[in-house]
Amino acid sequence: MTLGIEIDDLDVGSAAVDELRMLLAEHGVLILRRQSLDDERFLAFLRRFGDMMFTEGETPVPGFPDLNVISNIGRTTPPKSTFHVDTTYVPNPPAYTALRAVEVPRAGGSTLFSDQYAAYDTLPDDRKAHLAGRMVTHRVTGVASDTDSSAEHPLFAVHPVSGRTALALSAPARCVAISGMSADEAQETIRYLFEHSTHEKNLLRHSWAPDDVVMWDNRCVMHRADHSAVVGNRVMHRGMVAVEESTSVM
Ligand code: OGA
Ligand code: MN
Repeated sequence: MTLGIEIDDLDVGSAAVDELRMLLAEHGVLILRRQSLDDERFLAFLRRFGDMMFTEGETPVPGFPDLNVISNIGRTTPPKSTFHVDTTYVPNPPAYTALRAVEVPRAGGSTLFSDQYAAYDTLPDDRKAHLAGRMVTHRVTGVASDTDSSAEHPLFAVHPVSGRTALALSAPARCVAISGMSADEAQETIRYLFEHSTHEKNLLRHSWAPDDVVMWDNRCVMHRADHSAVVGNRVMHRGMVAVEESTSVM
């Protein structure tokens, strides 16, 4: 695929959601420029894709309990950020995450994405053979939660919309086991797969402009914020959409 597709001036109220689902499954990241949505319209757009999900421990947007705030205001040190997939430690992780730019910093603060289809496709054949059929145990890190704190997912995951296979990983700290492997081998394997996935040539960098809305398909990309060298306030409002029942695998 080509990672990321940009659409200017899309009418989010009437755009065909099935087509957007296909674009998301095909390109991983949908970049909508010049939206100037408020939270109400942002949320209405996301609800067209399915039910909203909210991760315990996040800060809700006042008046919009389905959305959360990502902000650097008042922080003295930049948050550390690693490539990851959102909330994979539950049995049914969110299909999509979307960010609406509320305040864009004067410099820095872009978001990076990795192409997990390409990561799968470019694995050496012997690795593919050795890893086929394995499950990864994903565990929560950094949020206080005593329910749904770990879940198993296939390492090679067939995307329900595109039918393509993606390498389904998250941050190494969250991938705590691989079925049929010792802890040491699993850790070494995760590290290898993570480096393979996040190699510079497998990445898209999105530099934020005011009024951008960016949505991604968690089933075929990993992402991370680049908090290095941010100048100015960076505020995003964020929503996550559950997998549609009819497209849910297993
Ligand atoms: C997220 C996330 C990245 C960013 O919203 O899940 O990881 O660039 N954000 O803020
Ligand atoms: Mn995230």
